[in-house]
Amino acid sequence: MCGIFAVVNDKNKNAAQTILEGLKKLEYRGYDSWGIAVKPLQGKSIKYEKHVGKIGEAKTTLPKSSLGIGHTRWATHGGVTNLNAHPHLDCTGRIAVIHNGIIENYQQIKKNLIKKGHRLLSETDTEVIAHLIEETLKSQSVEKAVFNSFNKLLGSNAISVLIFDKELIIACRKGSPLVVGIDDKNNQYFLGSDVPAFLKFTNNVYFLEDGEGVIISKNSIRVFYLRSKKEKKFKPQTVSWKVEEVEKSGYPHFLLKEISEQKETIGKTATINDKKIIQVANLIKKGYQPVFTGCGSAYYCSLGGKYFFAKSKVQSQAYSANEFIPFARLTNKNTLMIVISQSGETADTLISAKEAKKYGAKIVAVVNARGSTLERLADVTIPVSCGPEIAVVSTKAFTAQLATLYLLSEAVTGNLKKAQEEIKNISLVLKNWLNENLLKQLISLSKNLINEDNIYLIGKNFNYPAALEFALKLKETSYIHAEAFAAGELKHGVIALIKKNTLCFVLAANDEVKEEILSSAAEVKARGGKIIGVAPFDSNEFDQLVKTPDLGDLTILANIIVGQLLGYYLAVQKGYDPDKPRNLAKSVTVK
Ligand code: F6R
Repeated sequence: MCGIFAVVNDKNKNAAQTILEGLKKLEYRGYDSWGIAVKPLQGKSIKYEKHVGKIGEAKTTLPKSSLGIGHTRWATHGGVTNLNAHPHLDCTGRIAVIHNGIIENYQQIKKNLIKKGHRLLSETDTEVIAHLIEETLKSQSVEKAVFNSFNKLLGSNAISVLIFDKELIIACRKGSPLVVGIDDKNNQYFLGSDVPAFLKFTNNVYFLEDGEGVIISKNSIRVFYLRSKKEKKFKPQTVSWKVEEVEKSGYPHFLLKEISEQKETIGKTATINDKKIIQVANLIKKGYQPVFTGCGSAYYCSLGGKYFFAKSKVQSQAYSANEFIPFARLTNKNTLMIVISQSGETADTLISAKEAKKYGAKIVAVVNARGSTLERLADVTIPVSCGPEIAVVSTKAFTAQLATLYLLSEAVTGNLKKAQEEIKNISLVLKNWLNENLLKQLISLSKNLINEDNIYLIGKNFNYPAALEFALKLKETSYIHAEAFAAGELKHGVIALIKKNTLCFVLAANDEVKEEILSSAAEVKARGGKIIGVAPFDSNEFDQLVKTPDLGDLTILANIIVGQLLGYYLAVQKGYDPDKPRNLAKSVTVK
């Protein structure tokens, strides 16, 4: 949600170009507008540009410079306009600020600044920061002015500041991610909301902690505690991501690449995290009560976990993290809060984890991105390690997390080894199944679906969370209204929606509820509905079948992949960008 990027001592003295390329790698965090500000090698003021829309093939005409900041925006306060795009400048034009987050008290700060004569031009909360620094600078050093101004902001925020009179970038973090990239070889330094932004230059990084600030000049990187202003000795770390992982590598879109990568990423979950899984399983065996939480796909994954655990005779709860707070007081020191998140930075998810922690819960993070806030607040982290997920829509992280929850549920009953073999085998089966024929069938199906206004989906047991996830994929990428229901809910009201030619996907497996879901399909068909089965078997109730491999309880993995691919092809057929669906951002760092 908003991408921050900065470079200090750009080796080609072309900071604007480096920033533009970095922003392209961060665009998944927000893509309604973007902007860059640099301190030119020659000239008497900061130079900047701002544009509405995606960066695409944009070029920059900003002058030569070795220092600058850039931002890609996901609007919160104020519409999508050039004026509201970042960077925002103070009255003198000598301070430029970019920001990720929401300043909860910005109205009050704005009022005070206006009283003092500041002229604010945009509708954003961000602009107050530049003016607040300008005001504070009247009595304090640059470093203190930035740190103290930041300390006055309420909410989750990260900022990066360029000050014309100084050869440095200052950045602060509380709640929103910031990571420093250290390219010692070329003596150039970076700052980003995420590692892919500068991975091309370095994988030597320092993840800023909440309440820390950093001053980056061409001679040093100094980290400070924002409250005490004391300097902190920090230790950079190496991240294992490779440059190819943040490139499309021949695929037309990241989404298709990441869907395809599941042939490996699902299987990989069976070869990593043994010890962590056993450690968490032992906690459950000792009597800790599992509570799953996450948002969006991660919530559906949580629901999947609840079904897996039920099969292992473990009582658990699953809450959407954005509705968890009323239930937080039910947690206690016996609660094992299993928090699912690709990014580890989702605001509602973090709030829920922190709240449960306050009541004494132990936190287990099942995450993909490394160095995240969630990872830092967790007692145990199970990294699903499927590499950077760049497409906004979650695919490979979701299935790796679901597979990991399956392993965990089996580990509780002492069947981890067996489950690992199963998952490894599934990976082989997926390799065969995800072939040209399947893709052809789904391309052709997507062509038949492009004019649908409403699509319904039903599932039962494990296939219920799978249907929810399938529907979310269709909604996000094709903007078709797709609604999933537990098959048994149909007769309690939903069936009123079914009329002639209403399209209904039926997700099924060879399991104990097979006959029941087919009865529900028959009820829809009897009312004129058109049924597309997604299952390892055919049935008279299906007008069409997308055949998935029979993977036992894990058939849902293949059923969900069908939804991911259909969503992808629908977006392509409709001329939408599958990697960057409208209105969405990859990492939702605001509540
Ligand atoms: C759906 C999707 C979102 C995320 C949700 C949580 O395709 O990507 O629903 O799953 O925003 O994000 P993380 O997993 O980063 O906490």
